[in-house]
Amino acid sequence: MKALRAYRGSLLHFLGDPGDGADGSAVQYFDDGLLVVENGLVKAAGEARDLLPTLPAAAQVVDHTGRLLMPGFIDTHIHYPQTDMIAAYSAQLLDWLDDHAFPAERRFADAGHAAESSRFFLDELMRNGTTTALVFGTVHAVSVDAFFAEAEARNLRMIAGKVLMDRNCPEYLRDTPDGGYRDSSSLIEKWHGRGRLHYAITPRFAITSSDAQLESAGRLATEHPGVFVHSHVAENLNEVRWARELFPQARSYLDVYEHFGLLRERAVYAHCIHLDDEDRSRMAHTGAAAAVCATSNLFLGSGLFDFAAARHAGMRIGLGTDVGGGTSFNMLRTLAETYKVAQMGGHRLTPWRGFYLATLGGAKALGLDDRIGNFAPAREADFIVLRMDSTPLIARRMKTARTPAEKLFALMMLGDDREIGATYIMGDCVWNTLS
Ligand code: GUN
Ligand code: ZN
Repeated sequence: MKALRAYRGSLLHFLGDPGDGADGSAVQYFDDGLLVVENGLVKAAGEARDLLPTLPAAAQVVDHTGRLLMPGFIDTHIHYPQTDMIAAYSAQLLDWLDDHAFPAERRFADAGHAAESSRFFLDELMRNGTTTALVFGTVHAVSVDAFFAEAEARNLRMIAGKVLMDRNCPEYLRDTPDGGYRDSSSLIEKWHGRGRLHYAITPRFAITSSDAQLESAGRLATEHPGVFVHSHVAENLNEVRWARELFPQARSYLDVYEHFGLLRERAVYAHCIHLDDEDRSRMAHTGAAAAVCATSNLFLGSGLFDFAAARHAGMRIGLGTDVGGGTSFNMLRTLAETYKVAQMGGHRLTPWRGFYLATLGGAKALGLDDRIGNFAPAREADFIVLRMDSTPLIARRMKTARTPAEKLFALMMLGDDREIGATYIMGDCVWNTLS
C-alpha cells in the first residue's frame, strides 16, 4: 500500500464546464491549497488550512508553495509515429501526407523502431505534463503492441489503435477489410481494459478506407461498444471535395461515418472544421466528440475551428496537439494557438475554459471523467506542477497579474514545456525539474 502523501501549493481544477463568461462556479482555485493522495488516488483537495489538520501526524507534505498544481493535460488527438517528422515543410494536408506522414509511418513495420519511438514519445508526453492521450498508431499491428507495452509498463491511462487503411495510400501501408478487422479484434482482446489501457478503432479517414473496410470498422464498433472510435473529418477543403467524390450518396463527409455506424459515444473526430450545422447537430446528438487541433490547423493551413457554432450545437470538444501535423507536444502552446484561432472567429476563449478543455473537458470528450480530469475524491492522481516562473518574462509577468485568471491567461499565452515542473502518475513522480 502506498503511503498517504499531500502536496501544498496553489490548486486549480474544474467541477464542470465554466462556459464562455466570467462565471467561476465550475472552477475550484485555492491560492494556498492542498492535494491529498492515497494509494494513487485523490483523497481530498481544498484549502491547506482546512486539510492540514486532518492529516495523520506521520503524513509527508511535499511543499510546492508558489507553484500551481492541476490535473494532468489530456491530448485528445495525436500520432505517435509522426514524432520524427514533426515540423516538416510541405504544402497542405494531402501533399504533406504523401511527402512526410506516409514515409515516416512505413518504418513502424519494425517492432524495434516502434518500441524505441514509443519510449521517446511517452517521455515527451510526461515532460510536457500530458498524462492521457488518444493516439494513432500505424497500419501495422506491431506499432500498437509496442505502444501499449510501453504505456502499460509506465501505468499510464492511454488510448490507441491500429490504423485501418486499404486504398488511396501507398501499397506499403495498405491492409484489407478482413485483415484490418482481424488485427483490430486481436488487439482489442489483448489490450482493451488491461491495466489503464483502452483500444480505439482507427480508420484513418473515409478517403483511405473502402466501403467494405468502413463497414467492418462499424461492425467492430457495434461488437465492442466500450471501445473508442478515432478518425479525422472535415480538416481541409481538398480533402472534403475528395470525400464527396468518393461517397456521392452521402449527405456530407461526416454522414459517411454515421452511415457506417461510426458516430457514437466514445467516437472522437479530429478537426471538424468544414462541417455544416446539420453535421454539428449529428455530432451532438450521437455523443461523438471533436478534437480541436489548433497548431495543426494553422501549420497545414486547414482552417479555423468554429467555437461559437460548436457551442450552439452542444458539441463535445477536447483539445488535440495532432503531432506531427501539429507543431508542439505542449498543451500550453496549444492553448495559445487555440485562443488565437477562437479570436479569428470572433470568439473569446477565457483562461478558465482553456484550462478546462485541456483537463476535464478532454476527459469528458473521452468519456473518462469518472476516472481522470479533476481532483474529485477517488480520481486517479495524475497531476502536474506548473512552475509559474519558468522564464524571466513569465516570472516578471506573474508579479503584475492581479487575479488567478490573469495569471492563468499569461501562462496559457507564454508557457511551454519549461513550465512543467513535475508530472505525477497515480501519485508517483515521473518527471521532476523542481529538486
Ligand atoms: N487526415 C488523415 N490522416 C491524417 C494525418 O495523419 N494527419 C492529419 N492532420 N490529418 C490527417
Ligand atoms: Zn491527426
